[in-house]
Amino acid sequence: MDRSTRLSELARVAAAEVRDGMLLGLGTGTTAAAVVREIGVRVAAGLRVSGVATSARTAALARELGIPLLSFNQVERLDLGIDGADEIDPELNVIKGGGGALLHEKLVALACDDYLIVASSEKLSPVLGTRFSLPAEVVSFGWPHTERRLRDLGLEATLRRDENGRPARTDGGHFILDCARQPIPNPAALGVAIKEVIGVVDHGLFVGIARRALIAEPDGAVRLMSRPNMATPQL
Ligand code: A5P
Repeated sequence: MDRSTRLSELARVAAAEVRDGMLLGLGTGTTAAAVVREIGVRVAAGLRVSGVATSARTAALARELGIPLLSFNQVERLDLGIDGADEIDPELNVIKGGGGALLHEKLVALACDDYLIVASSEKLSPVLGTRFSLPAEVVSFGWPHTERRLRDLGLEATLRRDENGRPARTDGGHFILDCARQPIPNPAALGVAIKEVIGVVDHGLFVGIARRALIAEPDGAVRLMSRPNMATPQL
């Protein structure tokens, strides 16, 4: 089945998780956008929800669809967050940030009582880092120094650039260093080591945060995966 049909079916199943009155975390990326569109359809049909957007792109889409938005500063907890991922391991640890929204995505994810990953089955991986690079969001000041410190950790980091060759900026105004693919046998430990690097704001490892994932299989079926053990989120 083609990708867009699979995504639509996945988005329909994910949006069905949303109930009247919920406060939602709205993710970023093509998969999350498909879910936001489905939620928009339900809102147009009378569903009452509010959302916190994880990026300016998602906020613009939600506004276009008539989904009421709140500032993240206004809310204490969110009922449900739905977001995509770049790579997912069997424990539901994930790499995120291909779209550059990792910091805001993680802040919102940690405020969600329930956090659902939506992705196609190509994102599944036995070990994180084998199919996708790991982004680190860093302050722009002195970024080559931060890059060298990441290299000292064994990470081959490269500055992400936009289509005009300029350093890509996140919504928070930071730069992104993409760490080349390499297997990450212990994502929690690597996450802690990266966070200790001065200049790093955050990284794309989401460890112990996702509770469930909806996976679009090649034939279009949508499969629910649940985290095997409910570990404490590792920041
Ligand atoms: C955005 O920063 C990312 O974390 C996305 O959620 C992730 O890259 C998945 O994106 P797609 O759904 O576009 O593959």
